[in-house]
Amino acid sequence: MAEATMMFPQDFLWGTATSSHQVEGSNTNNDWWVFEKQPGKILDGNKSGLACDWWQNAEADLDLAAEMGTNAHRLSLEWSRIEPEPSVFDMAAIERYRQILQAMRERGIEPMVTLHHFSNPLWLVEKGDFNNDIIVEYFQRYTAKVVDTLGDLIPKWITINEPMVYVFMRYLDNVFPPASRNGFGAGLQAVRHMLHCHAAAYHTIKDKYPAAQVGAAKQLALFDTRPEDGFFQKWWARRISWLFNDVWLRAMHNGRFPRLLGGGKIKNLAGTYDYMGINYYTRHYLNFSLRGDLLANDWGAGAVVSDGNYGEVYPYGLYRVIKHILPYNKPIYITENGLPDAADKLRPGFILDHLRQIWHAISFCFPVMGYYHWSLIDNFEWDRGWTQRFGLIEVDPETQTRTLRNSGRLYQEICQSYSISSDMTARYAPDLLPVMFPGERPLPFAAPGNAR
Ligand code: BGC
Repeated sequence: MAEATMMFPQDFLWGTATSSHQVEGSNTNNDWWVFEKQPGKILDGNKSGLACDWWQNAEADLDLAAEMGTNAHRLSLEWSRIEPEPSVFDMAAIERYRQILQAMRERGIEPMVTLHHFSNPLWLVEKGDFNNDIIVEYFQRYTAKVVDTLGDLIPKWITINEPMVYVFMRYLDNVFPPASRNGFGAGLQAVRHMLHCHAAAYHTIKDKYPAAQVGAAKQLALFDTRPEDGFFQKWWARRISWLFNDVWLRAMHNGRFPRLLGGGKIKNLAGTYDYMGINYYTRHYLNFSLRGDLLANDWGAGAVVSDGNYGEVYPYGLYRVIKHILPYNKPIYITENGLPDAADKLRPGFILDHLRQIWHAISFCFPVMGYYHWSLIDNFEWDRGWTQRFGLIEVDPETQTRTLRNSGRLYQEICQSYSISSDMTARYAPDLLPVMFPGERPLPFAAPGNAR
């Protein structure tokens, strides 16, 4: 191999990620479906509709994922399909999930399954969902059903996706259903109940499948300050970082809710994680607020920012968050990482540079075992509808046409070769060559055996 190459371990998981409501379509029985119909809730009045039509044809996109050379995929189960009414389980829906999971395995794609990814059954909402402690019993019952009927097909589990993002978006930012601002206190109560749900689900899964790998997907964000910021701003950034990043992780570790937030021990919670699942997107600067305007959404001059002012492209942040969780001493999976970039201008470089951070971490023997790119395909981006496109594959939701993006071709080369190289960088993100591979130049000719 003539070009400079960063190799990844042979057992590395090359994945992509999606969630049920964002791709399945026709999820008529959950809170988002109702929310989308209310005027002004979703950008441009978009609706999930058929989404990516996975309920009928996930297999077609799994074919594309397999062609891309991925060997893992993270998806979620839709509670409102599995249990459409309290204690009533829909065996046809469960059978459909079996087909999808089996289709993944037949294609050499290992499933990682999330039990809760931002959507709730309508009956649960009526009962107060995360603000009613009965949810712990309900979540445990739902998990037990999934374990009994699908557990043989699921080696890796995520109980709850991004609990703090969910709470922030719903209780403080007011952009997730039901969008009646519930405030900080109700949000904290929800976090506490989510921790109870997590613990109950963890033990329910492990009791039947002790070898299953169970964790949560925790978004870690960096809350940075600028050199000119004073003491108070720095203190505030540290506080928010603790609240957003550390409270959940420490509670999973030691089984306690922090004293500053009301304290208390949470039954059977300590040690309920077999790995660290990390979603990483960007860093933030902060306003002094505990409401929707907390994030300054301004990254300063020179920052590379993705579509819709979603976030700064800040690959080194991935290395920083990996370092942050090393003390937990568990295998690490990057369970989401991506950006909205409809024109696919930034995504190739984004992928290369974020994977370089992982390679760097692995070269120090930090235990990063896999990477799940968000997302395999464009999908329904919650309150931002179809306006933000995260896919390696472009989707036209009207015609359901798929088009592989350039970044999808790059990811294919990466997954198939278990590497990133100067040659790939020269072809897909030439501006990054001096950053990624200082001193390397594109080869003036195709090397023997490497002709492209
Ligand atoms: C969520 C996804 C979402 C992605 C991009 C994550 O916070 O888990 O559902 O689509 O970010 O915004």
